[in-house]
Amino acid sequence: MKVLGIESSCDETGIAIYDSDQGLLAEALYSQVEIHQQYGGVVPELASRDHIRKTLPLIQEVMSKAECTKSDIDGLAYTAGPGLSGALLVGASIGRALGMTWDIPTIGVHHMEGHLLAPLLEEKGPTFPFVALLVSGGHTQLVEVERIGAYRLLGESLDDAAGEAFDKVAKMLGLPYPGGPHISTLAESGEAGRFTFPRPMTNRPGLDFSFSGLKTFTLNTILSLLDGDTDTTKIDQQSKADIAHAFQEAVADTMRIKCQRAIQQTGMRTLVIAGGVSANKRLREVLTVMVEKEGGEIYYPSLQYCTDNGAMIAYAGCQRLLAGQHDDLTILAKPRWPLDQLAAL
Ligand code: KG4
Ligand code: ZN
Repeated sequence: MKVLGIESSCDETGIAIYDSDQGLLAEALYSQVEIHQQYGGVVPELASRDHIRKTLPLIQEVMSKAECTKSDIDGLAYTAGPGLSGALLVGASIGRALGMTWDIPTIGVHHMEGHLLAPLLEEKGPTFPFVALLVSGGHTQLVEVERIGAYRLLGESLDDAAGEAFDKVAKMLGLPYPGGPHISTLAESGEAGRFTFPRPMTNRPGLDFSFSGLKTFTLNTILSLLDGDTDTTKIDQQSKADIAHAFQEAVADTMRIKCQRAIQQTGMRTLVIAGGVSANKRLREVLTVMVEKEGGEIYYPSLQYCTDNGAMIAYAGCQRLLAGQHDDLTILAKPRWPLDQLAAL
């Protein structure tokens, strides 16, 4: 079965064709980063307007790369949520309308299920069941995954998502949006031990996260170096690197503690990490060491499938369509959509 996937939940237009027999046939990704960078974050209205411009030309490009015509496509998958409502509506309207005209089964995919299943695009992917740490710009969740669609939420962030915290700290340091990759690069030249940041919510039981206190701690640390000036971007370059280092260590170590707890609590031996922040090298290192100590295995997507992309949506949609699921003609756009409300396969 060949499925065309459309991702448009935030600031990336991602299109891909996944074939259940041959794997990924073709893909294209257009990032809106340059449009939003001057505003220091995603401007929803500009995002929708750009998805409108890019979606159909990218579909045409991917169809031609895969040497497919419309009669070769057996199913259509689009991101139905969660995400920005205007942005979602673009992919959902185009996806649902193409599904109707091409007369093929069509399904609205949960964006975080897309992330969660992305490691299965790899040649050696995880086998079910596993514990998944989903870390993106909008979500930080620990999920017990029995099989596709059977998700039990073990814990989540009570305030900022991990990616959001990376982006906000980056902004304080005067780094461009999205800040995660910039913090990661800067942290490499940071001096270990100059600053130690707290590991929030690790000294009490439970699997929830909180990053807003860590963000405030970071801000106060920066201000303490500034002698009354409130422009946080003015601290010297070495201090920026040292702060990026301390912040990244605190996030990675907090996740290590929570993931270890989740593994021990569920008795599962496999940890999957996915979502934009799973591209973070240090986080991968810290979690790999922990999982190996626990005698388990860790899986994460290759870098291009950590952040938003069309391949993960085509893949997740394909699994559901193969199981006989599909939607009616309603265009689905759900800006809020709890992951544990999905139907299990
Ligand atoms: O999954 P994603 O592409 O979009 C959402 O679904 O939100 O995640 C984007 C987030 C951004 O906050 C970005 O700063 C973060 O992932 N990110 C990283 C890295 N690469 C992307 N955070 C830390 N280290 C990275 N290397
Ligand atoms: Zn995402």
